[in-house]
Amino acid sequence: MTMTMEEAIKTRHTIRTYDGRALAPEIARTLQSMIAEINRKAGLHFQLMNGIKDALAPYTIRYGKWTGVTNYISLVGKDGPHLDEQCGYYGEQLVLWAQQHGLKTGWVETRLENPAEGIPVPEIAAGERLVITICIGYSEATGSHHKIKTAEEMSETSDPANVPDWFRKGMACAILAPTAGNQQLFKIHLNGETLSIDTVPGFLEKVDLGIAKYHFELGSGIDHSRWE
Ligand SMILES: Cc1cc2nc3c(=O)[nH]c(=O)nc-3n(C[C@H](O)[C@H](O)[C@H](O)COP(=O)(O)O)c2cc1C
Repeated sequence: MTMTMEEAIKTRHTIRTYDGRALAPEIARTLQSMIAEINRKAGLHFQLMNGIKDALAPYTIRYGKWTGVTNYISLVGKDGPHLDEQCGYYGEQLVLWAQQHGLKTGWVETRLENPAEGIPVPEIAAGERLVITICIGYSEATGSHHKIKTAEEMSETSDPANVPDWFRKGMACAILAPTAGNQQLFKIHLNGETLSIDTVPGFLEKVDLGIAKYHFELGSGIDHSRWE
């Protein structure tokens, strides 16, 4: 049984311990077609790596102890100023779909520094960059809740006494967006009718911004084109 998107947003946490199983064939097929559609629509080169023993061995990981990772999605694309944000925005669509379907996920910063014989790695063509990785698979773990900022801390509105309901709902989802190191550096602004988002510098903060945009759109029901 699948869970609602609201449940998926509320229950999702980073999982770092997996049971080592490859993705079930029908799950892998659906993910492949979602990834193909994202790649077609956004000009990205996301790749599903499924059923690989010691899948993360070729990588240096920024932080955290990850075990049993057998499947992951490599978020690769043509390098450019919007690549990080796009990876966040489209990657989170896959994360929340996975959560709805009983899978567990975790974003992890990976650098492909230790290629090992016999362990497949994604294709990174000339001019492309591997931005980040989403581990995906099965686990009994549910993750843990971390202290997060409030919607008021993460937003700014020109008329605080009359914040529209759609903006409140968007913020309720945006503050649950995963961020690198739980840094939560983005801020969402409503100035009159104008909606925008920005971030102060951190690490992978543009990926975080893309993830937060997607959460806000889900919660508020606004169209992607609404952002300034
Ligand atoms: C862009 C991004 C990069 C991340 N990189 C790492 C990482 O390198 N290692 C790690 O263990 N967790 C990583 N995380 C997971 C965050 O630490 C986690 O999302 C955050 O602490 C909030 O916890 P939650 O996802 O359980 O709600 C990353 C998350 C994001 C969104």
